[in-house]
Amino acid sequence: MSQRLTINQNNKPIYDIVYEHDFERLAEELAAFGIADRKLCIITDSRVNGLYADEVCSVLKDHCKTIVVYAFEAGEQSKNLDTVKDIYEFLIQHKFDRKDMLLALGGGVTGDMTGFAAATYLRGIDFVQIPTTLLAQVDSSIGGKTGVDFDQYKNMVGAFYMPKLVYMNVSTLKTLDDRQYYSGMGEVLKHGLIKSASFYEWIIDNMYEIHERDLETLEEMVYKSCTCKKIVVEKDPTEKGERAILNFGHTIGHAIEKAKHFELTHGECVALGCVAAAYISWQRNLLSKEEYYEIRDMFVPFNLPISIDKIDPEEILALTTSDKKMEGNHIKFILLKKVGRAYIDTTVTKDEMKAGIHEIYFSEEDWDE
Ligand code: GLY
Repeated sequence: MSQRLTINQNNKPIYDIVYEHDFERLAEELAAFGIADRKLCIITDSRVNGLYADEVCSVLKDHCKTIVVYAFEAGEQSKNLDTVKDIYEFLIQHKFDRKDMLLALGGGVTGDMTGFAAATYLRGIDFVQIPTTLLAQVDSSIGGKTGVDFDQYKNMVGAFYMPKLVYMNVSTLKTLDDRQYYSGMGEVLKHGLIKSASFYEWIIDNMYEIHERDLETLEEMVYKSCTCKKIVVEKDPTEKGERAILNFGHTIGHAIEKAKHFELTHGECVALGCVAAAYISWQRNLLSKEEYYEIRDMFVPFNLPISIDKIDPEEILALTTSDKKMEGNHIKFILLKKVGRAYIDTTVTKDEMKAGIHEIYFSEEDWDE
């Protein structure tokens, strides 16, 4: 029996997340939504198209009315309204109506953009998330955030729109390159830090199996990580309050991502942001010095950075305060009271953020005589 989690809202089940080691049970899961009479459109990127689209099509083709594939060019640069327009045109050409269904097959870009197309096409068409990256499995496919980038602003246009199902085939994590895999580990470690000390310990205890990408360990890790996120999004699905703790490490992390023109992965930037935020937590005596250094150093064995060179700390600070996570003039900054306990703080000053940025800034001049 495969593991599953149900995401509820107001004590009502909204969608299930299933954990599998292949795509075999996808037809059975989708049968519950009556796909025999529905058209399906797989939306994917050029990379994942070559890896998994044929396999997913062959699993589903005898169980639905018809199945088509729309593939866009892989990469964050495709996550915009132009690609959404292309998706609408493709759906219109293939006469998709409101009772048909979209399947998002791929990473975060695919899931966010397909979800947004699903939320808006004919004022809403069902969609299913089939995430194939660690980042998408532990974070972006859960919780109903959908959207695209607009001009230079990340995720500026979007909607909260829930999938009908999230189908995780954890064996897809085996084909990720190391950098993408460890990028996902940034979000996994973050989930432990903000919500579960026992999960954080589990990650450390299972470090070897995580490196080996042992399938049982991957399933357990993704399941436990999603459980942390489930607890948060069920209480606050539309980020009116508590959900913001998921942004631990993201305020400074997003600023670095932007300043470095997306040369670093999302998880690498989140790791740097987490270190800066943990440092601020230590400076406020919320964490002890030992706790801070343990948190910082635990990113290293997961191939994530804890310092960065060739940035302008002033630029990072300016980008941080222009982030959309503002409440009036105050930034909603996430700090740690201890491992497993995050909270939203609106009193973090520019000087504290500056000190956090300097903590992760590795300047070559530091080594000058
Ligand atoms: N990735 C943060 C959230 O889903 O709220």
